[in-house]
Amino acid sequence: MTTICLIPGDGIGQEVIPAAARVILTVLPHTRLVEVDAGWDCFLRTGLSLPEATLAEIAAADATLFGATQSPSGGAPGYVSPILELRRRFDLFANLRPALRILPENAAIDLLVVRENTEGLYSGRERLEGDTAIAERVITRKASLRVARRAFEEAQRRCGIRHPKVTIVHKANVLKLTDGLFRACCLEVATDFPEVACDEMLVDAAAMWLARDPARFDVIVTSNLFGDILSDLAAGVAGGLGMAPSANVGLGRAPVFEPVHGSAPDIAGQGIANPIGAILSAAMMLDYLAFPAEARWVRLAVREAIDAGLRTPDIAGAATTEQMTDAICALATMRMRVTG
Ligand code: NAI
Ligand code: MG
Repeated sequence: MTTICLIPGDGIGQEVIPAAARVILTVLPHTRLVEVDAGWDCFLRTGLSLPEATLAEIAAADATLFGATQSPSGGAPGYVSPILELRRRFDLFANLRPALRILPENAAIDLLVVRENTEGLYSGRERLEGDTAIAERVITRKASLRVARRAFEEAQRRCGIRHPKVTIVHKANVLKLTDGLFRACCLEVATDFPEVACDEMLVDAAAMWLARDPARFDVIVTSNLFGDILSDLAAGVAGGLGMAPSANVGLGRAPVFEPVHGSAPDIAGQGIANPIGAILSAAMMLDYLAFPAEARWVRLAVREAIDAGLRTPDIAGAATTEQMTDAICALATMRMRVTG
């Protein structure tokens, strides 16, 4: 039996993860779901943002679905961001962030950002020297090669609709050593994938083209901070943060799937959060766990719910989280009956 660990976390994580769990149980009724604690509220109650018991369940599960946690800006003594710690602890070196048009009024977009997930400007090497604050941007050959390989493999997997392409996004004209190394590693891996086209673009130009003509991209591979920013931009172009899914993957151990959005304190507790980001993250997880039919039913159900006019307030509607989830579960059930 498949075991999935659920970490609702804080804010709307408490609303969208139960919604995604209902969808998982609809298409895969015999799944074992284990809910565990992490985040800011957990830290306030227990003094730990990521307890050992939580880590043990994640390690034991086939995959984890993570909601969002709230991080105090400027930090709090002893607080560690659970998702950053999970990426580090389980060596989840690639962050896969697809952006796909869901709403008819948005631009045509169907791309995947593959973001390096363990180093770059997020290495945690920040220090104060008098009145000067310094952050070190660490780029290693090892991490660059493995994230590049993953990006080319993903491009191969996406193949079918069109010729697969990987775009290396960097700023090697200024960051000559760090992004010079990242770029060189990506180009080195590209030679192993002659069937995948490869080009490169500076990150500022990439931001402009993502906003203007996102259809020119297929797979983007980039470093940690650039990937964080460009994937939010791509999510915005595709229809909004509330619908963007993601996966944190390593070499098989304890993958963590999560909506791209945060805890959204401005709307938490109102029952109006868009559950689609979490539900599409669950679909990515089903694909990863080798349940492609189930993943497809979920994706089709999301599309059909939107086509039927269901929209939460963030996408100009009035549906609640529950109404949206009810509709997606009902449509997924219909799909299962038709094709299953
Ligand atoms: P956010 O993603 O929580 O919210 C940004 C805006 O988008 C808000 O107006 C929010 O209402 C809206 N939004 C986000 N998800 C939505 C959904 N599913 N349905 C409807 N509207 C949605 O980002 P923000 O405000 O910058 O951060 C809030 C907290 O979340 C912070 O403490 C931050 O550290 C944390 N955060 C956690 C992440 C994680 O756990 N992986 C990722 C990003 C932020
Ligand atoms: Mg982000």
